[in-house]
Amino acid sequence: MSVGEWTVHARLDVSYRVAEAPGLLAPGDRALARAARLEPGARRLVVVDQRVLELHGARLRAYFAARQAVPHLLALPGGERTKTVATLEQVVREADQVGLARRDPIVAVGGGVLTDLVGLAASLYRRGTPFVRVPTTLVGMVDAAVGAKTAVNAQGQKNRLGSYHPAADTLLDRSFLSTLSLRHIRNGMAEIVKMAVIDDAVLFDLLDADAEELVTGRLAGPAGREVMRRAITAMLAHLEPNLWEQDLRRAVDFGHTFGPAVEMAAQPGMLHGEAVALDMALCCAIAVDQGLLAEVDARRVLRLLHRTGLPVRHALGEPDFLWEALTESTRHRDGRQHVPLPAGIGKCVFADALTAADLRRAVRTLDRLVEAEGITR
Ligand SMILES: NC(=O)c1ccc[n+]([C@@H]2O[C@H](COP(=O)([O-])OP(=O)(O)OC[C@H]3O[C@@H](n4cnc5c(N)ncnc54)[C@H](O)[C@@H]3O)[C@@H](O)[C@H]2O)c1
Repeated sequence: MSVGEWTVHARLDVSYRVAEAPGLLAPGDRALARAARLEPGARRLVVVDQRVLELHGARLRAYFAARQAVPHLLALPGGERTKTVATLEQVVREADQVGLARRDPIVAVGGGVLTDLVGLAASLYRRGTPFVRVPTTLVGMVDAAVGAKTAVNAQGQKNRLGSYHPAADTLLDRSFLSTLSLRHIRNGMAEIVKMAVIDDAVLFDLLDADAEELVTGRLAGPAGREVMRRAITAMLAHLEPNLWEQDLRRAVDFGHTFGPAVEMAAQPGMLHGEAVALDMALCCAIAVDQGLLAEVDARRVLRLLHRTGLPVRHALGEPDFLWEALTESTRHRDGRQHVPLPAGIGKCVFADALTAADLRRAVRTLDRLVEAEGITR
Protein backbone atom coordinates (compact mmCIF):
# COMPACT_ATOMS: atom_id res chain seq x y z
CA MET A 1 0.00 0.00 0.00
CA SER A 2 1.38 3.43 -0.88
CA VAL A 3 1.87 6.05 1.80
CA GLY A 4 0.96 9.68 1.32
CA GLU A 5 3.76 12.20 1.38
CA TRP A 6 3.65 15.95 1.03
CA THR A 7 6.54 18.35 0.67
CA VAL A 8 5.98 22.02 1.35
CA HIS A 9 8.26 24.68 -0.05
CA ALA A 10 7.87 28.26 1.07
CA ARG A 11 10.14 31.24 1.02
CA LEU A 12 10.55 33.93 3.59
CA ASP A 13 11.77 37.16 2.10
CA VAL A 14 13.50 39.20 4.77
CA SER A 15 14.54 42.78 4.55
CA TYR A 16 15.25 45.16 7.35
CA ARG A 17 16.73 48.59 7.76
CA VAL A 18 19.61 49.80 9.88
CA ALA A 19 19.91 53.56 9.81
CA GLU A 20 21.86 56.31 11.47
CA ALA A 21 19.43 58.52 13.34
CA PRO A 22 21.29 61.36 15.01
CA GLY A 23 19.07 63.43 17.30
CA LEU A 24 16.67 60.50 17.61
CA LEU A 25 14.86 61.90 20.65
CA ALA A 26 14.74 65.51 19.50
CA PRO A 27 11.03 66.39 19.60
CA GLY A 28 10.91 67.22 15.89
CA ASP A 29 12.79 64.16 14.65
CA ARG A 30 10.68 61.72 12.69
CA ALA A 31 12.75 58.53 12.48
CA LEU A 32 11.41 56.79 15.59
CA ALA A 33 7.87 58.05 15.05
CA ARG A 34 7.88 56.55 11.57
CA ALA A 35 9.44 53.23 12.62
CA ALA A 36 7.16 52.77 15.63
CA ARG A 37 4.08 54.25 13.92
CA LEU A 38 3.48 56.80 16.63
CA GLU A 39 0.14 58.30 15.71
CA PRO A 40 -1.91 60.33 18.18
CA GLY A 41 -3.43 57.97 20.73
CA ALA A 42 -1.11 55.06 19.81
CA ARG A 43 -0.07 52.98 22.83
CA ARG A 44 3.32 51.34 22.48
CA LEU A 45 5.14 48.89 24.67
CA VAL A 46 8.60 50.40 25.19
CA VAL A 47 11.04 48.06 26.90
CA VAL A 48 13.91 50.17 28.10
CA ASP A 49 17.15 49.61 29.97
CA GLN A 50 16.69 50.96 33.52
CA ARG A 51 19.88 53.00 33.41
CA VAL A 52 18.96 54.45 30.02
CA LEU A 53 15.56 55.39 31.40
CA GLU A 54 17.22 57.23 34.30
CA LEU A 55 19.55 59.08 31.94
CA HIS A 56 17.39 59.66 28.86
CA GLY A 57 13.83 58.97 30.10
CA ALA A 58 12.70 62.60 30.21
CA ARG A 59 13.57 63.03 26.51
CA LEU A 60 11.89 59.73 25.63
CA ARG A 61 8.67 60.69 27.41
CA ALA A 62 8.71 64.16 25.84
CA TYR A 63 9.19 62.60 22.39
CA PHE A 64 6.08 60.43 22.79
CA ALA A 65 4.12 63.34 24.31
CA ALA A 66 4.96 65.53 21.31
CA ARG A 67 3.16 62.95 19.16
CA GLN A 68 0.32 62.39 21.61
CA ALA A 69 1.40 58.77 21.75
CA VAL A 70 1.45 56.82 24.99
CA PRO A 71 4.57 54.85 25.97
CA HIS A 72 3.90 51.89 28.23
CA LEU A 73 7.35 51.70 29.79
CA LEU A 74 8.84 48.48 31.08
CA ALA A 75 12.25 49.21 32.63
CA LEU A 76 14.64 46.29 33.03
CA PRO A 77 18.21 46.29 34.35
CA GLY A 78 21.03 45.75 31.85
CA GLY A 79 23.42 42.84 32.32
CA GLU A 80 23.25 39.11 31.65
CA ARG A 81 21.01 38.38 34.63
CA THR A 82 18.13 40.05 32.80
CA LYS A 83 18.44 37.69 29.82
CA THR A 84 16.18 34.96 31.24
CA VAL A 85 12.99 33.14 30.38
CA ALA A 86 11.36 34.76 33.43
CA THR A 87 12.04 38.26 32.09
CA LEU A 88 10.84 37.15 28.69
CA GLU A 89 7.51 36.23 30.30
CA GLN A 90 7.46 39.64 31.95
CA VAL A 91 7.67 41.27 28.51
CA VAL A 92 4.82 39.04 27.30
CA ARG A 93 2.68 40.00 30.33
CA GLU A 94 3.24 43.68 29.63
CA ALA A 95 2.41 43.18 25.95
CA ASP A 96 -0.93 41.66 27.02
CA GLN A 97 -1.58 44.54 29.39
CA VAL A 98 -0.98 47.11 26.69
CA GLY A 99 -3.36 45.19 24.45
CA LEU A 100 -0.94 45.19 21.50
CA ALA A 101 -2.58 44.65 18.14
CA ARG A 102 -1.00 42.10 15.81
CA ARG A 103 1.12 44.62 13.90
CA ASP A 104 1.89 47.13 16.67
CA PRO A 105 5.68 47.25 17.00
CA ILE A 106 7.36 46.82 20.36
CA VAL A 107 10.15 49.33 20.94
CA ALA A 108 13.41 48.15 22.56
CA VAL A 109 15.77 50.81 23.89
CA GLY A 110 18.96 49.56 25.50
CA GLY A 111 22.08 47.46 25.13
CA GLY A 112 22.51 44.04 23.58
CA VAL A 113 20.83 42.38 26.52
CA LEU A 114 17.66 44.36 26.04
CA THR A 115 17.50 44.07 22.25
CA ASP A 116 18.26 40.32 22.32
CA LEU A 117 15.56 39.73 24.95
CA VAL A 118 12.89 41.90 23.33
CA GLY A 119 13.72 40.42 19.95
CA LEU A 120 13.01 36.92 21.24
CA ALA A 121 9.83 38.05 22.97
CA ALA A 122 8.70 39.75 19.74
CA SER A 123 9.46 36.67 17.66
CA LEU A 124 7.37 34.49 19.99
CA TYR A 125 4.50 36.86 20.75
CA ARG A 126 1.62 35.83 18.50
CA ARG A 127 4.27 33.88 16.54
CA GLY A 128 5.89 37.08 15.42
CA THR A 129 5.33 40.71 16.26
CA PRO A 130 7.35 43.54 14.72
CA PHE A 131 9.79 45.45 16.83
CA VAL A 132 12.09 48.44 16.62
CA ARG A 133 15.62 48.51 18.05
CA VAL A 134 17.28 51.55 19.50
CA PRO A 135 20.69 50.32 20.67
CA THR A 136 22.29 52.46 23.36
CA THR A 137 25.64 50.67 23.79
CA LEU A 138 28.51 50.32 21.34
CA VAL A 139 28.09 46.53 21.32
CA GLY A 140 24.46 47.07 20.39
CA MET A 141 25.22 49.57 17.65
CA VAL A 142 27.91 47.60 15.83
CA ASP A 143 26.85 44.04 16.59
CA ALA A 144 23.91 42.89 18.72
CA ALA A 145 21.27 45.17 17.23
CA VAL A 146 22.25 45.03 13.56
CA GLY A 147 21.90 41.29 12.92
CA ALA A 148 18.96 38.91 13.05
CA LYS A 149 19.69 36.91 16.19
CA THR A 150 17.67 37.12 19.38
CA ALA A 151 18.23 35.18 22.59
CA VAL A 152 17.99 34.60 26.30
CA ASN A 153 20.33 32.53 28.43
CA ALA A 154 19.02 29.20 29.78
CA GLN A 155 20.30 26.06 31.50
CA GLY A 156 23.41 27.95 32.56
CA GLN A 157 24.30 28.48 28.89
CA LYS A 158 24.58 31.75 27.08
CA ASN A 159 21.98 32.38 24.39
CA ARG A 160 20.66 28.81 24.68
CA LEU A 161 17.19 29.85 23.55
CA GLY A 162 16.85 32.17 20.61
CA SER A 163 15.55 32.84 17.17
CA TYR A 164 16.28 34.75 13.99
CA HIS A 165 13.96 37.73 14.00
CA PRO A 166 15.48 41.02 12.89
CA ALA A 167 13.78 44.27 13.78
CA ALA A 168 12.25 45.99 10.77
CA ASP A 169 14.07 49.13 11.85
CA THR A 170 17.21 49.67 13.88
CA LEU A 171 17.97 53.30 14.62
CA LEU A 172 21.48 54.33 15.58
CA ASP A 173 22.08 57.47 17.59
CA ARG A 174 25.69 57.68 18.75
CA SER A 175 24.82 60.36 21.30
CA PHE A 176 23.64 57.59 23.66
CA LEU A 177 27.31 56.64 23.97
CA SER A 178 28.04 59.90 25.79
CA THR A 179 26.69 58.36 29.00
CA LEU A 180 28.13 54.87 28.55
CA SER A 181 31.05 53.81 30.78
CA LEU A 182 34.46 53.62 29.15
CA ARG A 183 34.66 49.94 30.02
CA HIS A 184 31.57 49.33 27.91
CA ILE A 185 32.99 51.47 25.11
CA ARG A 186 36.09 49.24 25.12
CA ASN A 187 33.81 46.23 25.18
CA GLY A 188 32.22 47.35 21.91
CA MET A 189 35.60 48.26 20.43
CA ALA A 190 36.53 44.56 20.59
CA GLU A 191 33.86 43.75 18.00
CA ILE A 192 35.09 46.62 15.81
CA VAL A 193 38.68 45.38 16.01
CA LYS A 194 37.32 41.96 15.05
CA MET A 195 35.78 43.28 11.83
CA ALA A 196 38.98 45.17 11.04
CA VAL A 197 41.22 42.13 11.45
CA ILE A 198 39.13 39.71 9.42
CA ASP A 199 37.73 42.04 6.79
CA ASP A 200 38.92 45.61 6.58
CA ALA A 201 42.56 46.66 6.68
CA VAL A 202 41.57 50.31 6.18
CA LEU A 203 39.42 50.12 9.31
CA PHE A 204 42.38 48.61 11.12
CA ASP A 205 44.54 51.58 10.11
CA LEU A 206 41.87 54.02 11.29
CA LEU A 207 41.73 52.30 14.67
CA ASP A 208 45.50 52.13 14.85
CA ALA A 209 45.79 55.86 14.16
CA ASP A 210 43.36 56.90 16.86
CA ALA A 211 42.70 54.09 19.34
CA GLU A 212 42.95 56.02 22.62
CA GLU A 213 41.07 59.09 21.34
CA LEU A 214 38.27 56.96 19.89
CA VAL A 215 37.75 55.32 23.27
CA THR A 216 37.95 58.40 25.48
CA GLY A 217 35.93 60.46 22.99
CA ARG A 218 33.30 57.69 22.91
CA LEU A 219 33.38 57.70 19.09
CA ALA A 220 31.63 61.05 19.06
CA GLY A 221 33.46 62.83 16.21
CA PRO A 222 33.84 62.20 12.47
CA ALA A 223 36.54 59.56 13.03
CA GLY A 224 34.12 57.68 15.29
CA ARG A 225 31.39 57.90 12.67
CA GLU A 226 33.71 56.56 9.98
CA VAL A 227 34.88 53.70 12.19
CA MET A 228 31.33 52.72 13.08
CA ARG A 229 30.14 52.96 9.48
CA ARG A 230 32.93 50.72 8.25
CA ALA A 231 32.40 48.19 11.06
CA ILE A 232 28.64 47.99 10.43
CA THR A 233 29.10 47.81 6.66
CA ALA A 234 31.52 44.91 7.02
CA MET A 235 29.32 43.16 9.59
CA LEU A 236 26.20 43.37 7.43
CA ALA A 237 28.11 42.24 4.34
CA HIS A 238 29.02 39.06 6.24
CA LEU A 239 25.57 38.53 7.76
CA GLU A 240 23.39 39.17 4.71
CA PRO A 241 24.35 36.13 2.61
CA ASN A 242 24.20 33.84 5.64
CA LEU A 243 21.48 35.35 7.82
CA TRP A 244 20.23 32.00 9.15
CA GLU A 245 23.74 30.64 9.56
CA GLN A 246 23.30 27.73 7.19
CA ASP A 247 27.03 28.03 6.61
CA LEU A 248 28.77 27.51 9.94
CA ARG A 249 32.10 28.81 8.62
CA ARG A 250 31.57 32.38 9.76
CA ALA A 251 34.38 34.91 9.71
CA VAL A 252 32.40 37.01 12.20
CA ASP A 253 32.99 34.19 14.70
CA PHE A 254 36.59 35.38 14.95
CA GLY A 255 37.08 35.91 18.68
CA HIS A 256 34.17 33.61 19.47
CA THR A 257 35.82 30.17 19.48
CA PHE A 258 37.55 30.12 22.87
CA GLY A 259 35.88 33.33 24.07
CA PRO A 260 32.49 31.94 25.17
CA ALA A 261 34.04 29.37 27.55
CA VAL A 262 36.42 31.95 28.99
CA GLU A 263 33.55 34.41 29.41
CA MET A 264 31.32 31.89 31.22
CA ALA A 265 34.14 30.67 33.47
CA ALA A 266 35.10 34.22 34.40
CA GLN A 267 31.58 35.25 35.48
CA PRO A 268 30.75 37.48 37.10
CA GLY A 269 33.21 40.09 36.07
CA MET A 270 34.28 39.57 32.48
CA LEU A 271 32.50 41.36 29.65
CA HIS A 272 31.83 39.72 26.30
CA GLY A 273 34.25 41.98 24.40
CA GLU A 274 37.02 41.24 26.88
CA ALA A 275 36.65 37.53 26.20
CA VAL A 276 36.56 38.23 22.46
CA ALA A 277 39.83 40.18 22.78
CA LEU A 278 41.54 37.28 24.60
CA ASP A 279 40.36 34.89 21.91
CA MET A 280 41.54 37.17 19.09
CA ALA A 281 44.98 37.47 20.69
CA LEU A 282 45.27 33.69 20.93
CA CYS A 283 44.04 33.18 17.37
CA CYS A 284 46.67 35.64 16.13
CA ALA A 285 49.30 33.48 17.84
CA ILE A 286 47.83 30.37 16.21
CA ALA A 287 47.90 32.16 12.85
CA VAL A 288 51.57 33.06 13.37
CA ASP A 289 52.37 29.41 14.13
CA GLN A 290 50.47 28.30 11.02
CA GLY A 291 52.40 30.75 8.83
CA LEU A 292 49.24 32.74 8.05
CA LEU A 293 50.07 35.97 9.83
CA ALA A 294 53.41 37.76 10.01
CA GLU A 295 54.66 38.23 13.53
CA VAL A 296 54.82 41.96 12.98
CA ASP A 297 51.09 42.02 12.14
CA ALA A 298 50.19 39.84 15.12
CA ARG A 299 52.03 42.30 17.31
CA ARG A 300 50.12 45.18 15.74
CA VAL A 301 46.85 43.48 16.68
CA LEU A 302 48.02 42.84 20.25
CA ARG A 303 49.21 46.41 20.56
CA LEU A 304 45.90 47.78 19.27
CA LEU A 305 43.91 45.64 21.70
CA HIS A 306 46.13 46.75 24.56
CA ARG A 307 45.92 50.43 23.61
CA THR A 308 42.15 50.09 23.41
CA GLY A 309 42.23 48.89 27.01
CA LEU A 310 41.34 45.28 26.28
CA PRO A 311 43.08 42.24 27.77
CA VAL A 312 45.25 39.94 25.66
CA ARG A 313 46.23 37.36 28.26
CA HIS A 314 44.30 35.70 31.09
CA ALA A 315 44.93 32.95 33.61
CA LEU A 316 42.14 30.87 32.04
CA GLY A 317 44.00 30.77 28.74
CA GLU A 318 45.85 27.54 29.45
CA PRO A 319 46.05 24.70 26.95
CA ASP A 320 43.77 22.16 28.68
CA PHE A 321 41.01 24.68 29.25
CA LEU A 322 41.39 26.00 25.70
CA TRP A 323 41.12 22.49 24.27
CA GLU A 324 37.84 21.97 26.18
CA ALA A 325 36.63 25.33 24.87
CA LEU A 326 37.47 24.34 21.30
CA THR A 327 35.66 21.02 21.75
CA GLU A 328 32.49 22.85 22.85
CA SER A 329 32.73 25.31 19.96
CA THR A 330 33.19 22.41 17.57
CA ARG A 331 29.88 20.94 18.82
CA HIS A 332 28.25 24.30 18.20
CA ARG A 333 29.64 24.21 14.65
CA ASP A 334 28.16 20.80 13.99
CA GLY A 335 31.33 18.80 14.52
CA ARG A 336 33.79 20.94 12.58
CA GLN A 337 36.28 23.33 14.15
CA HIS A 338 35.85 26.13 11.61
CA VAL A 339 38.18 28.38 13.62
CA PRO A 340 38.44 31.77 11.92
CA LEU A 341 42.05 32.92 11.75
CA PRO A 342 43.53 36.09 10.26
CA ALA A 343 45.49 35.54 7.07
CA GLY A 344 47.20 38.90 7.14
CA ILE A 345 45.25 41.87 8.44
CA GLY A 346 41.91 42.22 6.67
CA LYS A 347 41.53 38.59 5.54
CA CYS A 348 40.21 35.43 7.14
CA VAL A 349 40.68 31.69 6.65
CA PHE A 350 39.37 28.74 8.64
CA ALA A 351 41.30 26.07 10.52
CA ASP A 352 39.70 22.67 10.87
CA ALA A 353 42.45 20.44 12.19
CA LEU A 354 43.95 22.16 15.21
CA THR A 355 45.41 19.78 17.79
CA ALA A 356 46.03 20.10 21.51
CA ALA A 357 49.73 20.42 20.65
CA ASP A 358 48.91 23.38 18.37
CA LEU A 359 47.20 25.10 21.29
CA ARG A 360 50.15 24.46 23.62
CA ARG A 361 52.46 25.97 21.04
CA ALA A 362 50.14 28.93 20.47
CA VAL A 363 50.05 29.75 24.18
CA ARG A 364 53.86 29.84 24.18
CA THR A 365 53.86 32.00 21.05
CA LEU A 366 51.32 34.36 22.58
CA ASP A 367 53.37 34.70 25.75
CA ARG A 368 56.43 35.49 23.68
CA LEU A 369 54.62 38.13 21.59
CA VAL A 370 53.01 39.71 24.64
CA GLU A 371 56.40 39.91 26.32
CA ALA A 372 57.99 41.37 23.20
CA GLU A 373 55.33 44.09 23.25
CA GLY A 374 56.05 44.79 26.90
CA ILE A 375 52.43 44.18 27.85
CA THR A 376 52.32 43.34 31.52
CA ARG A 377 48.66 42.77 32.35
N1 LIG B 1 22.27 39.22 18.78
C1 LIG B 1 23.56 39.25 18.49
O1 LIG B 1 23.96 38.99 17.35
C2 LIG B 1 24.54 39.68 19.54
C3 LIG B 1 25.82 40.08 19.16
C4 LIG B 1 26.69 40.53 20.15
C5 LIG B 1 26.28 40.56 21.48
N2 LIG B 1 25.02 40.14 21.81
C6 LIG B 1 24.57 40.15 23.19
O2 LIG B 1 24.63 41.48 23.70
C7 LIG B 1 24.76 41.41 25.10
C8 LIG B 1 25.78 42.43 25.55
O3 LIG B 1 25.33 43.70 25.18
P1 LIG B 1 25.84 45.01 25.94
O4 LIG B 1 27.29 44.96 26.05
O5 LIG B 1 25.18 46.14 25.25
O6 LIG B 1 25.29 44.80 27.42
P2 LIG B 1 24.07 45.42 28.24
O7 LIG B 1 22.83 45.45 27.43
O8 LIG B 1 24.02 44.68 29.52
O9 LIG B 1 24.53 46.93 28.52
C9 LIG B 1 25.72 47.16 29.22
C10 LIG B 1 25.52 48.12 30.40
O10 LIG B 1 25.37 49.44 29.92
C11 LIG B 1 24.22 50.06 30.49
N3 LIG B 1 23.78 51.01 29.47
C12 LIG B 1 23.20 50.74 28.28
N4 LIG B 1 23.10 51.85 27.53
C13 LIG B 1 23.64 52.85 28.25
C14 LIG B 1 23.85 54.23 28.01
N5 LIG B 1 23.54 54.80 26.83
N6 LIG B 1 24.41 54.99 29.00
C15 LIG B 1 24.78 54.41 30.17
N7 LIG B 1 24.62 53.11 30.44
C16 LIG B 1 24.06 52.33 29.50
C17 LIG B 1 23.31 48.93 30.82
O11 LIG B 1 22.42 49.27 31.86
C18 LIG B 1 24.29 47.86 31.25
O12 LIG B 1 24.65 48.04 32.59
C19 LIG B 1 25.16 39.98 25.45
O13 LIG B 1 24.10 39.35 26.09
C20 LIG B 1 25.45 39.34 24.11
O14 LIG B 1 25.13 37.97 24.08
C21 LIG B 1 24.16 39.73 20.86
